[in-house]
Amino acid sequence: MSKGISIAVVGSGYVGLVATACFAEIGHRVICVDNDEAKLRTLQDGGVPIHEDYLPEVLDRHRGHSIEFTSDLRAATQAAQAIFIAVGTPQSRTGSADLSYVDAVASEIARSIDDYKVIVEKSTVPVYTNEWIRRVVERNGVPRDLFDVASNPEFLREGTAVVDFLHADRIVVGADTEKAGDLLRKIYAPLTSGTYYQSAHAVPGPHSEGNPPPVLLTSTKAAEIIKHASNAFLATKISFINVVANICEAAGADVEEVARGMGMDSRIGPKFLRAGVGYGGSCFPKDVAAFRHVAEQMGVDFALLKEVEKINEEQKRRFFQKVRSALWTFRGKKIGVLGLAFKGGTDDIRESPALDIVKQMLHEGSTVTAYDPAAAERAKETIPPGPQMRYVDDPYAAAQDADALVILNEWQEFAELDLKRLHYTLRYPIIIDGRNLYDPATMIESGFTYLSVGRPGLSHTRDAIAGQRMP
Ligand code: UGA
Repeated sequence: MSKGISIAVVGSGYVGLVATACFAEIGHRVICVDNDEAKLRTLQDGGVPIHEDYLPEVLDRHRGHSIEFTSDLRAATQAAQAIFIAVGTPQSRTGSADLSYVDAVASEIARSIDDYKVIVEKSTVPVYTNEWIRRVVERNGVPRDLFDVASNPEFLREGTAVVDFLHADRIVVGADTEKAGDLLRKIYAPLTSGTYYQSAHAVPGPHSEGNPPPVLLTSTKAAEIIKHASNAFLATKISFINVVANICEAAGADVEEVARGMGMDSRIGPKFLRAGVGYGGSCFPKDVAAFRHVAEQMGVDFALLKEVEKINEEQKRRFFQKVRSALWTFRGKKIGVLGLAFKGGTDDIRESPALDIVKQMLHEGSTVTAYDPAAAERAKETIPPGPQMRYVDDPYAAAQDADALVILNEWQEFAELDLKRLHYTLRYPIIIDGRNLYDPATMIESGFTYLSVGRPGLSHTRDAIAGQRMP
């Protein structure tokens, strides 16, 4: 361990583990701290507890040389110049962010500081958290000139986290002193100068030596707000298009055409305009609620976000009704399900709309046979396998003799099914697609009754299914 900057990352969840791997990848020495001994052992033994492209190979490249996993926060703090806090900030009962882990870690870091450190918030936290951390550290007797608190929010998406980190749209550095800002800029210099992309091993992505990612220097508070506001805005975009989809359904228009037309306006942009079964995951639901609470605390009425949440709940309910409209009743029906994770490309089932919908189907008396390329093991912890719920290893097994096939997330393989095979595998050729993976006309030609989101519902026997409108 000789080159780069010494970094400690506290927390080995999605953000912490990806940051650990990527900081080492760009040339730093990283100690990743976690108090979960079982997880640490997995990581030390070469395991990777999450499904994430490029993560296993990047960790393998640096484990034992420039990455160390430990439970010793004190030693990690003392060895590091910058300590990134990447612990969970779960939703409390009131909807606000529960900052008790951040608080506990800040106190422990404070008790270990003996020379200048920059403490960096990487977790998603409400504005003013940096001031609380500062206060906690001072209360533990650390002189003001021995530390700074900065904010460096992470914008990675699950499934593409490593690429998102190494090829970020922007790197936001929120720092209130020059010293803290300089250290963070130095940490990211291999990316922002473009040198990282010269390496033969560089993870490929949109940035290159000649086109490196920009760094945005802000105040710490602005950086905290940028993170919450970005997630809340993206969630708003999704809820917006979901309502537009409902209008399209009622009007007999196709939301995909509408989204394309909107997205071609460079002020709107085409991304995050995919209508579906509603957003989920460990970030959007929690962060929209937390940001609404932040606003409330500041005396600002952000009723828009309440509406965003309401639309998202309603979207799941509407989709469930759509399945009902195709099946008439649920009791005794055999339903094939594709997708359990909150989106494709991940094994994460937290706040997954797919699981909510499956639970409702089971509740109404259907049997479900489900396939997800990565999330089945995790789903089993929430919905154990049994006579009513089966997990299978391929999409056709999920469709076998089913009264209908329901698509709930957007793994690429769900969009590439052999339609002929699917047709004779299903008991009835009915597909209800919550992610608009297929062209309705092709599905009709292939003999399916096909319902999707925000597009006219069609069957091969009739032009339109009245059931697209809720009873
Ligand atoms: C999200 C943000 O996209 C990241 O920038 C952010 O760093 C992260 O939260 C976080 O705060 O940690 P992630 O939760 O991994 O990332 O997932 P997304 O890809 O953003 O999708 C979120 C949900 O929205 C999924 O359920 C997805 O299916 C849904 N979605 C997304 C749509 O329904 N339509 C879309 O057009 C896009």
